[in-house]
Amino acid sequence: MSLFMLPSVIYAQNTFEAGDGSFLLNGKPFVVKAAEVHYPRIPRPYWEHRIQMCKALGMNTICIYIFWNIHEQKEGVFDFTGNNDVAEFCRLAQKNGMYVIVRPGPYVCAEWEMGGLPWWLLKKKDIRLREEDPYFMERVKIFEEKVGEQLSSLTIQNGGPIIMVQVENEYGSYGENKPYVSKIRDIVRSSGFDKVSLFQCDWSSNFEKNGLDDLIWTMNFGTGANIDDQFKRLKQLRPNTPLMCSEFWSGWFDKWGGKHETRSAKDMVEGIRQMLDRNISFSLYMTHGGTSFGHWAGANSPGFSPDVTSYDYDAPINEYGQTTPKYFELQSLLAKYSEKKLPKVPKSIPTISIPEFSFSEYAPLFENLPKAHPSENVKTMEEYDQGWGSILYSTILPELRSQSKLTIKEGHDYVQVFVDGNYIGSLDRRMGEKELVLPSCKKGARLDILVEAMGRINFGRAIKDFKGLNSDVNLTISLDGNEFTGTLKKWNTYLFPDEYDFYKNVSYKSLPTTSVKDSKGQRVPGFYKAHFNVKKPGDTFLNFESFGKGLVYVNGHGLGRIWEIGPQQTLYVPGCWLVKGENEIIVFDIIGPKDAKTEGLSKPIIDKLQNEEPPIHRKEGERLDLLGEQAIKTGSFAPGNGWQEVKFDSPKSGRYVCVECLNAHDGKEMACISELYLLDENGERLSREPWKIYYADSEDIKSGNRAGDKIYDLQESTFWSTEKGVAFPHSIVIDLGKVQTLTALQYLPRMESTVPGGIKDYKIYVKDTPFKK
Ligand code: GLA
Repeated sequence: MSLFMLPSVIYAQNTFEAGDGSFLLNGKPFVVKAAEVHYPRIPRPYWEHRIQMCKALGMNTICIYIFWNIHEQKEGVFDFTGNNDVAEFCRLAQKNGMYVIVRPGPYVCAEWEMGGLPWWLLKKKDIRLREEDPYFMERVKIFEEKVGEQLSSLTIQNGGPIIMVQVENEYGSYGENKPYVSKIRDIVRSSGFDKVSLFQCDWSSNFEKNGLDDLIWTMNFGTGANIDDQFKRLKQLRPNTPLMCSEFWSGWFDKWGGKHETRSAKDMVEGIRQMLDRNISFSLYMTHGGTSFGHWAGANSPGFSPDVTSYDYDAPINEYGQTTPKYFELQSLLAKYSEKKLPKVPKSIPTISIPEFSFSEYAPLFENLPKAHPSENVKTMEEYDQGWGSILYSTILPELRSQSKLTIKEGHDYVQVFVDGNYIGSLDRRMGEKELVLPSCKKGARLDILVEAMGRINFGRAIKDFKGLNSDVNLTISLDGNEFTGTLKKWNTYLFPDEYDFYKNVSYKSLPTTSVKDSKGQRVPGFYKAHFNVKKPGDTFLNFESFGKGLVYVNGHGLGRIWEIGPQQTLYVPGCWLVKGENEIIVFDIIGPKDAKTEGLSKPIIDKLQNEEPPIHRKEGERLDLLGEQAIKTGSFAPGNGWQEVKFDSPKSGRYVCVECLNAHDGKEMACISELYLLDENGERLSREPWKIYYADSEDIKSGNRAGDKIYDLQESTFWSTEKGVAFPHSIVIDLGKVQTLTALQYLPRMESTVPGGIKDYKIYVKDTPFKK
């Protein structure tokens, strides 16, 4: 396309830079109003529609991540075509008069498998991810150069729409390493982004750790946050820098087994209004979240919280590209700040429903074992050169009398155990389950361990997340009152990669009834296939409420993961992936359906939990008994936002830490904590990886996910909250996993300027043994 064909309004002089107190576009002050959308989370035929939706909302820029692992799925094999054609996506933005901000990682987070890093990096077992590991840096450089080949000609200086490029992503919540971040900056620069403005994004609490002098600094925070407080430190350090919230979280992501997340439209709009009134630029993360199709949804940590397939995010434009009430509330605000009349909202893509249909063919997993790989000990999925899917480990058992125990310390991620084909039970990594009792059996019984990989962890230090069995399988037997533990050896391993060609080519047979059970009356893990008819293609939502857990393909397109526990029960099927007439669906269900049928709904179900225990940390009738306990520290927190530290009078050792909250600054009956750390004898923060909440007297899981474990989830915008109106005192007890020496506690109240639930008077208790409850 020649430059003359471009809309004349933009890019006449082609500069974008940080000026005095504001960004300058072609020398004139400019407020960035960016809409974050992720092109791999949108089918390509819908890209332009979504860009136009953002424009009609009142945005002037599109902000994108580049997910390294979708472009280089095999080491050295790059794909920037089709749904991966990021240059075309940017050109479409430009065609529609939108600027673009590019965030090429290499790490991105984004609730995306491994935070965007390719799994094959893990084939180098000792790799140091996001550090100056020579192999990691070498691969980053190669990748960023490929990104440069695609996009460097599209920077604003070269007549394209790209006004800014990000270096790394929120490194402050990973570590402190300026030399590494500087190297990433240099790689990005030398990949063709030498004239365009480069920036770093982080949290107001930690951006100084890795802030480079020659880059623009932007802050990330969520709906409801106290805007002035968020920029306070930055303004002190750089009084004249233009301000930008590079991720203003419109909503939040959902995890399997957790309540569907929503955030208030009013708070979101109010936050944006405050920013616009102060000429603060922003990117609304997400403006349109879309879908983590296939196996691309990630998982959060600490702990293991796999994300659902839908990335709806409670964003103004919903998962399937339609307006929401939030959209119109924001649009009416943005219209006021726009020089021109906003364009009309594009027509939405029609939705359809599809009448219920049954699965007519199936291929039971245990009748379709691929080639066996023998090995003495169990190996991870990566050691078999497998990235995603499931893996089955089989061995022969010795004679077992009653109460033999199977221990798998690290089964990643969902483990099902079978003896001679009988289903024994599951170990769910989310719950930290590691042990199972085996039934008695004669020598020679076959033990099968089926392990399904969910998304690799995308946040925190745990991103180095190997799949399959990461530890030995141990058997403990009792003989004459003594326990003996040994490691099981001599395994046959079978690989079930997540590939459509693999699913398509297993041996299907006819499925006589939809309520399928094996001869033992058990659900049947395996592959289920059906054909269904579509009169006129449109977007639809296939309902998997009667299926177990697994992955779904329609006409060869990976739709994503399903899991009966919810909250997501339907999968989004973009109409552009359906054809008029016959369509094919394959479900790889590792548990097996209760009823092998589905239907296409015209609306999604993403907020329906089934079978899950509420995630609270107090049993019915329990009450913490602090009578006779001696507080190691008594005091008052200051009012207001921001981190506070309480130094203990002398180092204390203990495993259980109780924070008793006596009252709140606002005088209301509610206590909240966003984040909490404990410092060791060197004044360093203790790792919170092994932490568990032992007790919380009250947890608000009705109005949101506000359970006790939010105090160590490494997310400053989420928090533990007691239920409104439940009277003080409130207490929360952390089990540190082992005895530690403690010298101080750090506490972060909520981010809102009103600091709801901000604790005033407190008592802290530390003990080696559990508190009575
Ligand atoms: C951070 C990351 C994003 C995303 C959000 C939460 O801000 O930078 O990639 O993970 O958190 O949705």
